[in-house]
Amino acid sequence: MKENIERASGHILIIFGASGDLTRRKLIPALFNLFLKDLLPEKFAVLGVSRTEISDDVFRTKMSEGIKVHSDAEYEEEKLDNFLRKLYYTPIDTSYGDDYVKIKDRLHKLNNDLNTGSNYIFYLSTPPSLYPIIPMYLSKQDLNKSGTGFRRLIIEKPFGYDLKTAAELNNKLLEYFSEDQLYRIDHYLGKETVQNVLVTRFSNGIFEPLWNSKYVHHVEITSAESIGVENRGGYFEGSGTLRDMIQNHLMQMVGLVAMEPPSSFDSNAIRNETMKVFQSLRKLSPEDVLKNVIRGQYINSSVRGEKMKGYREEKDVDPNSRTETFVALKFYIDNWRWGGVPFYIRSGKRLPTRVTEIVIHFNKTPHWLFGHYQTAAEANNQLVIRIQPDEGMLLKFAMKVPGQGFQVHNVNMDFHYSDLKNTYVPDAYERLLLDCMLGDPTLYTRGDAVEELWKFMGPIQEAWEKNSDIPLYGYPSGSWGPDVADNIVEGEQLTWRYPCKNLSDDGLYCEL
Ligand code: BG6
Repeated sequence: MKENIERASGHILIIFGASGDLTRRKLIPALFNLFLKDLLPEKFAVLGVSRTEISDDVFRTKMSEGIKVHSDAEYEEEKLDNFLRKLYYTPIDTSYGDDYVKIKDRLHKLNNDLNTGSNYIFYLSTPPSLYPIIPMYLSKQDLNKSGTGFRRLIIEKPFGYDLKTAAELNNKLLEYFSEDQLYRIDHYLGKETVQNVLVTRFSNGIFEPLWNSKYVHHVEITSAESIGVENRGGYFEGSGTLRDMIQNHLMQMVGLVAMEPPSSFDSNAIRNETMKVFQSLRKLSPEDVLKNVIRGQYINSSVRGEKMKGYREEKDVDPNSRTETFVALKFYIDNWRWGGVPFYIRSGKRLPTRVTEIVIHFNKTPHWLFGHYQTAAEANNQLVIRIQPDEGMLLKFAMKVPGQGFQVHNVNMDFHYSDLKNTYVPDAYERLLLDCMLGDPTLYTRGDAVEELWKFMGPIQEAWEKNSDIPLYGYPSGSWGPDVADNIVEGEQLTWRYPCKNLSDDGLYCEL
């Protein structure tokens, strides 16, 4: 993986779906932040493409509004104007092949005017039905062929809906682009704190020796959101939490937590190791799905006097929808390091707080000397890696309560990113866009890994489709999901960790 200070070669970034929400909310503010940090190449332009008939100027105004709302950077107006001058726009009907001549001509002209070396990055931020179509039409205009300059293609999720559709999409893309030109985004891999899992594990001598079945009791990953589906009901109806969060974001975190040390910090070395983890996932039997996979859907409730809608009352959602907004599951990784260690992962919308964290629960001591511990969780040391918010790490360990006898109490050793002098944690899209510009695919998902993960999801998708007896539990908005999710956690008195907004607030009080 290359250093951030490296500058990419001049190029044009072509965003398909430029009038969409992602462009305004994430992509353009991320590019602006890179510009402010002087990380964009000097010869650089963005060409927005979508159906809406607007001019360069109107596009610039819209993007400027997006930056004002969504970038938290401090800047002078002049800087913003300089950045906006790099934005251009061409309206086309993306599903109509002849229109791509307009893109080719515009790129030709921009390239000549700005001297961007015929280097193009295409970003697909469109409805997924266009993912196979746009590359085909680009290839008809020879825009896929690197020869004069580099050609890369970034694809947003969802990458397929199951193994079959993901494999079809991979095959289709590979007709026009080679694997090393393809950059499949999983924005969780762009998160600073997710990357820190690798640094925690592989640059400290104290964690890795314990990072295996001999010392780890179980691993838990939670990604909770307090928001509901907002205005994305239409999309979410065809997706659900399994496809939206589990197959990609949560499983990618599993890959980083469970992988073997790579031989070098090189994109293929790292992605080969995460791939081996995915290949070692124990296939779930229909009984496993029944017993160890819990799905739920939020129902209306009242939180602090505020009435919250149930999922079925959301806009564009079927009033009888069976789409899950919560999933918890238990599984195993059948390899030498993790044999017999349960992994628990869960994700849901309308949970009490927004939090993502990885918890490594260590085994308790072989013999307990100090009376009886209160709860099983108390006897296990825990390492909490907080992905968001209040990014940081926390280690729980036992300490003698001062005074007579030997009373034991659990205390926290914690580190918060906010304690660092330089507390700026870049947005995931900044990192990912920059990596693609530099030609570094380490933090992008490889086609074979995506398919492997769909393979693992297959039995769950199949069971839910075929067996309508598998319950979909309603859970009140603002709760931690169906309480039956507690039952899948194995072991006397063990349960999920119920995290708070702040990393170190747990136990007695908790700010949500
Ligand atoms: C997206 C999902 O990929 O990730 C959304 O489609 C979800 O449903 C989002 O809200 C969560 O991302 P983050 O970065 O806010 O945790």
